[in-house]
Amino acid sequence: MCGIIGYCGKQAAAPITFEALKRVEYRGYDSAGIAVLSNGQLLVKKDIGKLDEIEAKHSLSSLPGNIAIGHTRWATHGGVTSANAHPQYDSSETVAVVHNGIIDNYQELRKQLASNGHHFASETDTEVIPHLIEDEMKQGLSLEAAVLATAPKLEGSSTFLAISSLDPGKVVGTRKGSPLAIGIGDHGYFAASDALAFSGQAHQVIPLADTEVVILTADGIEFLDAAGNKLAKESRDIKSKWHDSHKQGYQFFMLKEIMEQPQMLEAAATQDRELFTKIALDILRAGQVIVTACGTSRYAALVGRYLFSKVGKKFCDVVMASEFHYFADSVDKNTVVLAVSQSGETADVIEGVQMARDAGAQIVSIINRPQSLLSEMSDHVIYLNCGYEISVPATKSFLSQLVIFYLLSFSMVNSFDEAVNNLKGISNEVTKAIAWNNEPLRKLSQSLKDKDDFYYIARGINFAIASEGALKLKEVSYIHAEGMPAGELKHGTLALIEPGTPVAVICPDDYTYRETLSNAIEAKSRGAYIIGVSDKKNDIYDFWVKIPKVDELLYPIITVVPLQLLAYHLAVSRGHDPDRPRNLAKSVTVK
Ligand code: AGP
Ligand code: GLU
Repeated sequence: MCGIIGYCGKQAAAPITFEALKRVEYRGYDSAGIAVLSNGQLLVKKDIGKLDEIEAKHSLSSLPGNIAIGHTRWATHGGVTSANAHPQYDSSETVAVVHNGIIDNYQELRKQLASNGHHFASETDTEVIPHLIEDEMKQGLSLEAAVLATAPKLEGSSTFLAISSLDPGKVVGTRKGSPLAIGIGDHGYFAASDALAFSGQAHQVIPLADTEVVILTADGIEFLDAAGNKLAKESRDIKSKWHDSHKQGYQFFMLKEIMEQPQMLEAAATQDRELFTKIALDILRAGQVIVTACGTSRYAALVGRYLFSKVGKKFCDVVMASEFHYFADSVDKNTVVLAVSQSGETADVIEGVQMARDAGAQIVSIINRPQSLLSEMSDHVIYLNCGYEISVPATKSFLSQLVIFYLLSFSMVNSFDEAVNNLKGISNEVTKAIAWNNEPLRKLSQSLKDKDDFYYIARGINFAIASEGALKLKEVSYIHAEGMPAGELKHGTLALIEPGTPVAVICPDDYTYRETLSNAIEAKSRGAYIIGVSDKKNDIYDFWVKIPKVDELLYPIITVVPLQLLAYHLAVSRGHDPDRPRNLAKSVTVK
């Protein structure tokens, strides 16, 4: 999940690399580092912590030279230590490497290298790469030849960039699994995990395909295939621009992104009727429909499943992307796979989609980030249009995904326009839900901030909102939380309810109201502190989260918003940074 970046050009490389790293920090932020080549010498600075902390300590951006590689890490192999931070280097400190991925056979490689006299300074899988390159370069190979010889030895996913004092003047990169975009600028050339890293600096982008190699020098770029043959590749204009991360007065991006949801809903609902009608027909005709996604995107899919069933009378299954391959045997050309991913590069989703494609299934993706890996693998792509979501917890992308599922389900009954119409007033209702609850929930968080466990219950179309509320709370406040169908509570979890345990009940005045309320009363009878999210007041609520009344199929868009606010305020009142929760990253590019 790490972010990698390389630069070779006419300007000082370290400040450019540092700024670019900041833009890919969403991919990992437990440690970071930069290596430069200056007068043929390799210099490396790295440490644990967030980029700004490391900069304050080590002045990464003041390193000299016009060639640099940089890394911001989300540890997979090896703890969060300065030695495990990237760049990693070889025994003779002549080769430096930044890597995104997991090398499955690193233990075997490490043993072989160690028996040949290599000394390892870290616990990472990555470190085998510079050692292998070192061996190849000792045979007199150029850096690119050494990379070409090394890459096939690495199993798993290994996208990496390398520089070497033995062959200075270039950055060499290769891709397997995780993405690598190459940028062409006026003053130099870039390679990065995400083109966003160099947007503004570069005007054209060339995506690297698996096993290809790129060589960046100050004068140009060259591409090679895995056999070392030169490749001609086409560039395209960079569409997405980096809008410098303004928090617009908010303390955190998470709150800013929650607050901008009303506007985003309108953007999400602005879609191509023809495309939706085509996809809806394909869904209706398909032998089976599988929706695959992870985390918050999967909860949006679960709401979608109810909508497909209720409106389109079409059953579909939602399969957790990390489990998808265990069901791949039943996927065929009569299957439509809907892949839902804000980033469009979640490794679990990509893997499942690849398998489904190989089996002949039609792939429809619902994505926010343009030009992502997933978009390249899909027959049809629906964009959320909600702009960059910077904070790790997904908020506005979730609401936009709900809008897409709403439009798709109505398109199944040829009522796209009706759906668009129904959505017209929803922005105002979300605005009300925010205005009515933000301050009361901030106050509530003060009194609940020392609780150890929260439970969230709901039924039917609202059930996934209980799960999403719990996920949001866990990831930003580090409080244990569970969300479940209200009817399931009595099948086990009720045993955990003690006097004062907070139970959030998502209980709008719809077809789920009576039964959900009765499950809430069961919890209340065991002493639970009931937070009722409803448009209808009830005496059993210890705290009433008042929401506006809307059509029953639109409640999920409303009820989730106060739960996002509750998670946010609990995180802040416990002293945590909700934008960059510990152990997490925005794009999960490893399996
Ligand atoms: C959401 O708050 C989480 N950060 C996480 O569960 C996320 O939704 C999941 O990793 C899926 O990401 P994607 O939508 O980019 O595929
Ligand atoms: N496996 C490498 C490490 O742990 C890179 C991790 C990643 O790309 O997420 O350092």
